[in-house]
Amino acid sequence: MTEHLTLRRPDDFHLHLRDGDLLRTALPFTARQFARAVVMPNLKPPVTTWRDAAAYRERIRVALPAGVPFEPLMTCYLCDTSEPDELREGHARGVFTAAKLYPAGATTHSEYGVTSTAKIARVLEAMQEIGMPLLIHGEATDPEVDVFDREAVFIERTLQPLLSSFPALKVVLEHITTEHAVAFIDNDTSGRLAATITPQHLLLNRNAMFAGGLRPHHYCLPVLKRERHRLALRRAAISGSRSYFLGTDSAPHAATFKESACGCAGIFSAPVALEAYATVFDEEGALAHLEAFASENGSGFYGLPLNSGTVTLTRATQQVAPRIDYGNDESLVPFMASMTLPWQMVTPASSTA
Ligand code: DOR
Ligand code: ZN
Repeated sequence: MTEHLTLRRPDDFHLHLRDGDLLRTALPFTARQFARAVVMPNLKPPVTTWRDAAAYRERIRVALPAGVPFEPLMTCYLCDTSEPDELREGHARGVFTAAKLYPAGATTHSEYGVTSTAKIARVLEAMQEIGMPLLIHGEATDPEVDVFDREAVFIERTLQPLLSSFPALKVVLEHITTEHAVAFIDNDTSGRLAATITPQHLLLNRNAMFAGGLRPHHYCLPVLKRERHRLALRRAAISGSRSYFLGTDSAPHAATFKESACGCAGIFSAPVALEAYATVFDEEGALAHLEAFASENGSGFYGLPLNSGTVTLTRATQQVAPRIDYGNDESLVPFMASMTLPWQMVTPASSTA
């Protein structure tokens, strides 16, 4: 049995860091494990210009613990009014790594999102030309569509036509949750379509939201799905296919906003992210494929260099903290709170760069 696992330093290709106290609290957990992260732009107000993104990147750098090497990769929040030149310039200046498409109303802070992909056709043309990846929250927003079907309907009604209209555009379907998404990604042979998978969608099915009562800390969007979808995601993650890579979608919200009559969507997985993925790959007898999923496939898709340095995990149980306090009497409840995980990170990320 493998007792120690040493991996090339991994990256998190989908992360919410927020701002202020939340940023200062959440960031060290990620920077301890990951060399880089693709940082989501759904702040309030959203990050829509390269100047906003450069300023946010600076706030992230300032919030880093001293001496911890970590590179935030910034994204642009697309709106109906986004201008191609803003994206071109942000990309040329090395500020924007990618742009995020939130269908308006699909999720947290998506109210300024895109109401129809036709509205951003010029932006998508520019992104296709400069090779900038489009990151998609893939859920239909039509209120008639059942919440558990939103991903499958989005793929059929929106993603498929978008890929046909922009045949060279690089697209990441973020935080996939269904066997439909896996089949769709597997079917692509072009190499310009990929997907991220979160730890919660690999470890939990939708029963976890209702286990003995309503469990707000298991609520995220896209929402957890049936067991057969979880199993399809597991097969995809461990398959060795270069189309799948690590993206936690770690999304901290103050516990009071989660434990509420109208609770926020988002699971704060950053404190245990790598250990949670290691648990899944171990359970599947696929630890040999973890490094590709966590440390290689994403950078290959984005055209980024591989990281130097390593992280080491050891097979040793850890009890996850019940809460993490921050700011003025607020706290965050981490993913797997009060539960035990069979893996532990032993060395903070080290860099030889
Ligand atoms: O659960 C989620 N939380 N899904 C998202 O798409 C957004 C995120 C957040 O920002 O809280
Ligand atoms: Zn997200």
